[in-house]
Amino acid sequence: MSDTASLNDRAAQPRPQPKAGIMDIHAYTPGKAKAEGIADPIKLSANENALGSSPKAQAAYAEAGLKLQMYPDPKATVLRTAVAERHGLEPERLIFGCGSDEVFQILNQAYLEPGDNIVQGRYGFAGFAIGARACQAQVRLAAEPDYRIDVDELLACVDDRTRLVFLANPGNPTGTWIPFSEVRRLHEALPPGVILVLDGAYSEFVADPTFDDGLELARGSANIVVTHTFSKLHGLAGLRVGWGYAPLGIIEACERIRMPFNVSVPAQLAAAAALDDLDFERASVELTEQWRPWLEQQLGGLGLDVVKPSAANFVLVGFPSAPGRTAAEADAFLASRGLLVRGLNMYGLPDHLRFTIGLEAHNRALTEALAEFMRR
Ligand SMILES: Cc1ncc(COP(=O)(O)O)c(C=O)c1O
Repeated sequence: MSDTASLNDRAAQPRPQPKAGIMDIHAYTPGKAKAEGIADPIKLSANENALGSSPKAQAAYAEAGLKLQMYPDPKATVLRTAVAERHGLEPERLIFGCGSDEVFQILNQAYLEPGDNIVQGRYGFAGFAIGARACQAQVRLAAEPDYRIDVDELLACVDDRTRLVFLANPGNPTGTWIPFSEVRRLHEALPPGVILVLDGAYSEFVADPTFDDGLELARGSANIVVTHTFSKLHGLAGLRVGWGYAPLGIIEACERIRMPFNVSVPAQLAAAAALDDLDFERASVELTEQWRPWLEQQLGGLGLDVVKPSAANFVLVGFPSAPGRTAAEADAFLASRGLLVRGLNMYGLPDHLRFTIGLEAHNRALTEALAEFMRR
């Protein structure tokens, strides 16, 4: 048989087909990491920690590098103890993931059957929905008037097939947050069989003393999971570590499908060490607190529509629709100046960009470039 004939023959054969719905999923688009022709761009596109990470975490990481032949502790004992002690939690109610992303994934896999649904805000973090769709579940998006979660809108989306409600507080990419009284109201109104996932990825950056990440509420509840990550405050995004605090019944289900070695040795040890570095945590929060209002004011002064107030380590900014001034054009202009920021088409916010709060030099470079963009 000729080569062409055999190729044709193979092309005619049935190919492996993904299950229904997989090819309709939009893959997660990460923030840009490269700028054409610029060796060392300023990356403000992924809400990473501009200060780097704790020296204690780096030392633990380096030490873990000497024992790479060993599988990780499947129970993440050192990290479990550190998290439990730090937050006053029962160690057996913790689950660890390769980023909090994996904790969401495990929850989705454990609780969603085809035809079930999850509920989240319209601008809710894309990671929740991808895992749900992979389970052939529907994703019900609640309106977020003024870019803020509205509990009544979330509740209006809940029906008898809802299994999980995801609420990131503060939200990404909005940066806005809702008071604890609203979180409690949401929880009280949910049917007891629905799990409320409170994602606190940015909670440590909230300055308001009345803010509450829900850990205490979760302690006495049978259907709340609170998640946290080491990616933001601790600057360990590259290591991929997150955790969830859940009722034992949920932990027991999730632990059946969690792969035993999902969190690497360096990740477990560096994350545990990071919890012991309060100076680094404080510096990270202070950097955000110092520059967030400054950035909001500067960007507002350029006539841009800043979504305020952000309580996270980034700000969301709306651009005019006039040609020459659009978010897409600003994104390209900034990239040409070596400033990488986050376009938000994936979130249905094509007129907005999200800027991570950086070091002083980054923030000044950003506002100067944007001033030039708006003057052109
Ligand atoms: C709201 C929100 N939740 C969770 C995550 C996931 O964090 P990680 O998987 O790095 O722990 C992110 C990451 O950007 C986020 O923005």
